[in-house]
Amino acid sequence: MKLLIQNGTIVDPAGGISGQKDLLLDNGVITMIGDHLSDTTAQVIDAAGLHVSAGLIDMHVHLRDPGLTHKEDILTGSEAAAHGGFTTIACMPNTKPVMDNPDTVAYVKKRAQHNCGVHVLPIGAVSIGERGEQRTNFKDLKAAGVVALSDDGMPIMNANLMRDALLRGNRRGLTVLSHCEDDTMVHGRGVNEGRVSRALGMPGRPAIAEELMVMRDAMLAEETRTAVHICHVSTAGSVNIIRQFKRKGVRITCETCPQYFILTHEEILRQGTMAKVNPPLRATKDRDAILAAVKDGTIDCLVTDHAPHSAEEKALPLVAAPAGMVGLETALALNLTYLYHAGVLPLEEVIAKMTLRPAEVLGLGGSVGMLALGAPADVTIFDVNEEWTVDPSDFRSKGRNTPFAGMQVKGRVRYTIADGKIIYKA
Ligand code: DOR
Ligand code: ZN
Repeated sequence: MKLLIQNGTIVDPAGGISGQKDLLLDNGVITMIGDHLSDTTAQVIDAAGLHVSAGLIDMHVHLRDPGLTHKEDILTGSEAAAHGGFTTIACMPNTKPVMDNPDTVAYVKKRAQHNCGVHVLPIGAVSIGERGEQRTNFKDLKAAGVVALSDDGMPIMNANLMRDALLRGNRRGLTVLSHCEDDTMVHGRGVNEGRVSRALGMPGRPAIAEELMVMRDAMLAEETRTAVHICHVSTAGSVNIIRQFKRKGVRITCETCPQYFILTHEEILRQGTMAKVNPPLRATKDRDAILAAVKDGTIDCLVTDHAPHSAEEKALPLVAAPAGMVGLETALALNLTYLYHAGVLPLEEVIAKMTLRPAEVLGLGGSVGMLALGAPADVTIFDVNEEWTVDPSDFRSKGRNTPFAGMQVKGRVRYTIADGKIIYKA
């Protein structure tokens, strides 16, 4: 089937195309880009007044399948992604069982074949069971189709294991995505260490717990001359370290999520477990530093860390409740509202951090994340100015755990197109 997208304003961070252009999608690829294209055999989308970008990529998603499907499954997570404008998502291995073996990777890939059409890219565990002890078989995981390696959810406390993983992963073209928190300083603690933890009379997770691990991983990447990617950066100290190592030419990249440049730990006092996430929401100076690092390019990628949990689990007391928030269905709007409309970043840069950059970190190749002739027909069409109110009851995800419920945002997905097929339409 052919799809002709007419009159949209192109957002192309790669810089090849700009202004108003038509796109013809045929047989899963972009076959024509130009002015006033016509094709009588194509289905037409009139994108006048809308923006057209490469399909969004979220390289940090928890799909909970296998094993934790009361929180989410591959089908509902993919629907949530399409609803949020994402055509590609990479899923973390902290499932049950852990995605530390080719069979579990094969299961995820197979289930994903029957989803709404979103591309699901599995991430393999670094260690067996994410226990941080014994390395998984990277060769077998790569052959099974993983695009990266991570023990996300759990820090890799064993520096020797991390060093070995960087060396062996890089050799196979697999980047390690590192969850940086020193477990000995955060275990069993629910909130950031600071004013809020003191107000609650609870021990907190200090910023230094993240920064020590960021420093360790940056040093390991430098020493081994490998690439490392730091997950969900949340502190001022972390971005300072990453900035410094980038200047030296070390192959370190990183990501953050909307919650870290929009919210602070004060949200815990207002919203309790809804604002509980790991790493935790931090102090105002951290939030401001994250925003500055998004602006100056220290932070490469915008991800969601979509972490669905059930209402029952989130109703537990603060210390016992699981950490995490859903993000797939609010990310584009939050990024547009707080980065583009707020004047922090040009639109091209917001979209680059949600398309090109994650494609580069994962080494997807094949023009994935770009609007170009011959690129996959993965396209997101959005209204950059539409205002709406976040309403979790409208989510396709099984998870409703968001601290952004009721928030007024600006920017809304109108069409999500994967492989030339409309997989979501507003
Ligand atoms: O808040 C979080 N939730 N942080 C993580 O690293 C893991 C995630 C989850 O799996 O729930
Ligand atoms: Zn995560």
